[in-house]
Amino acid sequence: MSKTKIAPSLLAADFGNLQRDVELVNNSAADWHHIDVMDGVFVPNISYGMPVVKAIAKHATKPLDVHLMIVDPDRYIQTFADLGAQILSVHYEACTHLHRSLQAIKSAGMKAGVALNPHTNVQLLEDTIQDIDVVCLMSVNPGFGGQSFIENTYTKVKSLKEMIIRKGAKTLIEIDGGVTSKNAKALVDSGADVLVAGSFVFKSKHPVDTIKELKELAG
Ligand code: DX5
Ligand code: ZN
Repeated sequence: MSKTKIAPSLLAADFGNLQRDVELVNNSAADWHHIDVMDGVFVPNISYGMPVVKAIAKHATKPLDVHLMIVDPDRYIQTFADLGAQILSVHYEACTHLHRSLQAIKSAGMKAGVALNPHTNVQLLEDTIQDIDVVCLMSVNPGFGGQSFIENTYTKVKSLKEMIIRKGAKTLIEIDGGVTSKNAKALVDSGADVLVAGSFVFKSKHPVDTIKELKELAG
């Protein structure tokens, strides 16, 4: 049984055939549905909002891993809980009171995630790591799919893993951006527990096979 989780990002799905692509993920080796919500303010792009997440949730059979790339995410924590999110990640850079946001996510019955931009040092989580269920390390600048992987991510995964072990935390490390069959194994060897993949999965000829390939490579 493989322990690394694969979370295909629906940002790269065919929005005209969203039900088909959600079902494709249902019927694959994937573990989570990764859902990217962007507000055009925190990131220079707008993806989709609540009605689309609701439509995804209606068809999805695996946990919804919602990645909020929005300012002031506290305003929408309960909304995403009501929509059926199981994991809710907020950006470190968007939270003035991160500890409070994490408690609010958990009180709403979800796993609490924190996403870090490529420039944000993992050591900034030293005082909250025990309260975080998932750290989403951005391996591209958030806002768009299909960008190239930033190589410095390996160093960040290793330092974060070292911190998690040292602190006795149970936090999972998720990698988001530019994940392919070329870097999947090296990321897992560095300490990654969850791999998000958008373009690599949905722009491939046979997404179900690509998910299986990632799952096998990740081990
Ligand atoms: C980027 C999003 C990612 C994106 C990844 O802002 O957070 O989840 O969909 O897409 P790929 O795998 O194409 O880099
Ligand atoms: Zn994402």
